[in-house]
Amino acid sequence: MSIITRSLFKSYGNLVAVNGIDLDIRGGKVFGFLGPNGAGKSTTIKLLTTLIPPTSGTIQILGLDAIKNPLDVRKRIGVVLQQPSYEPNLSVEKSLEKYGMMWDVDRKTRKDRTDELIDVFELQEIRKKKNEDLSIGQRRRVQVAREFIHDMDLLFLDEPTVGLDPGARRNLLDFLKNKARDGLTIFYTTHVLTEAEYLCDEIAVINKGKILAVDSPEHLKSTFGQEKTIKIHLLDRIEKLPNLLSSIAGCKIDFNAGTDIIIQSSKAEIILSQVLSILIENNIPIEDLSAMPTTLEEIFLKMVKEKNASNN
Ligand SMILES: Nc1ncnc2c1ncn2[C@@H]1O[C@H](COP(=O)(O)OP(=O)(O)O)[C@@H](O)[C@H]1O
Ligand SMILES: [Mg+2]
Repeated sequence: MSIITRSLFKSYGNLVAVNGIDLDIRGGKVFGFLGPNGAGKSTTIKLLTTLIPPTSGTIQILGLDAIKNPLDVRKRIGVVLQQPSYEPNLSVEKSLEKYGMMWDVDRKTRKDRTDELIDVFELQEIRKKKNEDLSIGQRRRVQVAREFIHDMDLLFLDEPTVGLDPGARRNLLDFLKNKARDGLTIFYTTHVLTEAEYLCDEIAVINKGKILAVDSPEHLKSTFGQEKTIKIHLLDRIEKLPNLLSSIAGCKIDFNAGTDIIIQSSKAEIILSQVLSILIENNIPIEDLSAMPTTLEEIFLKMVKEKNASNN
């Protein structure tokens, strides 16, 4: 196991940011930590990387007690935190070089890796530019790239794709996939379900400092992600709408102000076709219609609700 925690807690005054987390993460895998803003993702990363001490609980990283031996742990891990960190006056090339020197990487390896990373992270055009002259997305790419200048057994990445355009995002995810294939263990936080699904072997869903589920992306998705939300906006207010649609079973239908129909279902297409045929039969005109995957936020809310209900 690369990471083992037991009853991990971190409080800030009255606020419990990490509320009793148990993790067992195997080596050579990408482990996703998926949760909305404020869920406790960054706090967990800071605990696991020994940057802050826990209020209570145990942390074992690569077989080491991280609370007793933080320095030994830090030598073997890489960390890309959520906060931007860069030296404004250094060029992209020099930042990578300097980071390599900090990690005692020999000169030849430093040079080879700098060239490789500049290539992989598509930094050729900005390699001589100063960090302060880069866009946020470019800075983020440099910040992630430089972490690969040194060897490590375990890498922590805190929402590394925020600010990247879709091409750069996909590029980074594929690069990480390859690294994992070569044996690197990666702990990856995100609030984007599709990203976790694409990259991770296993995902923990976290909310309010607690893990709600740990599973493979396939299984999580089939449990929580199939649902769509369909919204139909009618031209006129129809009083008898709930009555007309009462025969449709197997889903939740909400009516807003008598002019909106909101359907949440994992069989949204089937339900939609039933709703449409009833509207057409009754000559009810539609002004607007949209269908989209139920957002992660809504899935979370549902999970939390189910959790609360089962606790009562
Ligand atoms: N240094 C701190 N002092 C006080 N509260 C904090 C501190 N760091 C984080 N928090 C709080 O802990 C909770 C979890 O934060 P965080 O771990 O940053 O969440 P996430 O990374 O999932 O968005 C939030 O409510 C946040 O406001
Ligand atoms: Mg965070």
